[in-house]
Amino acid sequence: MGQIAAGSQQKMHGIWAGRWTFILAATGSAVGLGNIWKFPYIAGENGGGAFVLVYLLCIAIIGVPVMMAEVLLGRRARKSPIYAMSDLAREAKVSRLWCAIGWSGALAGFLILTFYSVIAGWALAYVGKMINGDFVHAAPETVGNIFSTLLADKGGLIQWHSVFMLMTVGVVAAGVTKGLGVAVRVLMPLLFVLLFVLLWYSSQYGDFSRGFNFLFDFDFSKLTWSGVLVALGHAFFTLSLGMGAIMAYGAYMPSHAEVSKTVVTVALLDTLVALVAGMAIFPIVFAANIEPSAGPGLLFVSLPVAFGNMDSGLLFGSVFFILVSIAAWSSSISLIEPVVSWMVESGRFNRVGAISLVGVTAWLMGLGTVLSFNDWADFKPLLGMTFFDFLDFLTAQIMLPLGGLFIALFVGWKMSKASVREEIAETTDIQFDLWLQMVRWISPLAVAAVFVFLLWDKFLSGWWAALIALI
Ligand code: TRP
Repeated sequence: MGQIAAGSQQKMHGIWAGRWTFILAATGSAVGLGNIWKFPYIAGENGGGAFVLVYLLCIAIIGVPVMMAEVLLGRRARKSPIYAMSDLAREAKVSRLWCAIGWSGALAGFLILTFYSVIAGWALAYVGKMINGDFVHAAPETVGNIFSTLLADKGGLIQWHSVFMLMTVGVVAAGVTKGLGVAVRVLMPLLFVLLFVLLWYSSQYGDFSRGFNFLFDFDFSKLTWSGVLVALGHAFFTLSLGMGAIMAYGAYMPSHAEVSKTVVTVALLDTLVALVAGMAIFPIVFAANIEPSAGPGLLFVSLPVAFGNMDSGLLFGSVFFILVSIAAWSSSISLIEPVVSWMVESGRFNRVGAISLVGVTAWLMGLGTVLSFNDWADFKPLLGMTFFDFLDFLTAQIMLPLGGLFIALFVGWKMSKASVREEIAETTDIQFDLWLQMVRWISPLAVAAVFVFLLWDKFLSGWWAALIALI
């Protein structure tokens, strides 16, 4: 069955040229704004070290096992997530309700894309500002002002958001297996090199030891249960897990490729990029007296200060923001591929029609995020959050972890062990059983525990204390 399905899939969407193309494409999806923009600022907001440790633990004990589960689901079914889940539920003879994994994933990807495109637009805007020399010898306050001016300029934000959305639509319209593999082969390594250049700069000119201590000094008193949920959510976000992106890419993975090694490689590369980005950014943050908890602007304020004062900073700075934009691009494609490939498989749309419709809708909704940084900055109807904060919270902290939880439960408990084993054939029995136990118990329980503790911390502990006080 696998062979036949693979054949028709190959005709409809294409197949990766080999294991390394899959690794690069999955890394392209994983490495993005999450690593370079989001990780440093949420680490800053949540006090640093202890947060980073929890995040790394989440990657290792939840992220990697769940990612293997997601890849194997996609590769076994060789269809887009929604249809994949419906086939696999039938194969496992369980309720079709399991398709909800596909549906909620498609929705989460769409919602993330709406704000992802706006933030990627900031990076695009910064390419122009870099080339223009706006940051040459700029003091931190000047850079801060340039950034706030950008945020206040709705027209400009919308323009860059549109450019980025068009770039995404363009690649998805052409089919992700065509151009992407090649692009990623050249550009990802270049991004690595540039991050190391930045790391070198910050070790020379930044407050390196303070930056290092901030990221790796495990002070648990600074960490709250909400911080733990942020770390967990980010582990999913940064690995592109819990919404079917990796499942969709897994569907194009050659049958002979080894799922386990491939996934570990992707997770390691992704973590490396985040840590290097953090180590490049924080020493500069401290040397320039910027607050580590500055929020979403952290990257956009700290790095231009560094580039502005660096020899050849103009060149490095422009190339850096071009690469960040490209990293965001290769990620945004994977956010929307599940929905588009589902629409194509349904037979009601062709690729171009599907992506045009989805692209326009996501663009429109992105306007809400644009406004969150200016006109609507004080409009917080949803849990006291702006539109952007709410979308980020809903997707990263609720939908992705829940998606991951159900993916783990499905693979661990619902699929027959034989079919799972067929997809993870390369491991020894012991390794396989270890992984299976993680997927069955550790990953779901860890996700559930974070939710329970958070609920307790936020609501129940207050009531409990009140109740005790009453008695
Ligand atoms: N992982 C990407 C990043 O770190 C974002 C991303 C791409 C994503 N595809 C995803 C997040 C799917 C969640 C789900 O920037």
